[in-house]
Amino acid sequence: MRVAMLAVIVVSASTTAARTTPGARVYTLAQAEAGRVAIAQNSFGDCRACHTSTLTGRTGAAGELPSIASLSEDYQKLVNGNGGRVPPLVGAEFVSRWSRRSTKRLVEEFDKRFSPPLSVDTRLAIIAYMLQASGAPAGADPLTPTTDVPITSVFTGDEATHK
Ligand code: HEC
Repeated sequence: MRVAMLAVIVVSASTTAARTTPGARVYTLAQAEAGRVAIAQNSFGDCRACHTSTLTGRTGAAGELPSIASLSEDYQKLVNGNGGRVPPLVGAEFVSRWSRRSTKRLVEEFDKRFSPPLSVDTRLAIIAYMLQASGAPAGADPLTPTTDVPITSVFTGDEATHK
């Protein structure tokens, strides 16, 4: 009985997934939506200030917004202390940076950086949003601290699979 049920799940997963890859579904739409809000409103600070309004990070290129000069003195110090570079939280470069690691590793990275001040739910929601904004499709089950699949498998687009 268990085996039969599993087979049904596998079949339905592969028919709904995009053509390119099976695509693990590791977060829910509600979680990503909570994360979208939490990116701007959380007890650490607006992630967009340093990681840019598009969350695609800074290389020091002209036109990256908000401008470093518009940030608080503390934030400017932190960004300048990192050579003006801030890694992306979404997009192809983020996917590529994380392509050899697992979702669990990303969750652990967030634990290390943001616990405290961010609650585990907020941390997971922000990660869910990052995955969504980078092109990973949502599913029925939320991201949890024990979700452990390769980052590449959550993307059905070609960003991850071609790296
Ligand atoms: C004051 C500027 C600043 C703010 C605000 C900020 N970050 Fe960062 N963040 C950085 C810098 C600089 C780095 C690169 C240096 C490092 O690894 O600490 C970084 C690195 C990271 C990394 C590691 C990325 C990787 O691929 O290695 C993650 C994840 C991250 N930040 C998430 C966030 C989130 C989520 C928020 C909002 C809750 C946030 N950051 C707010 C400046 C900031």
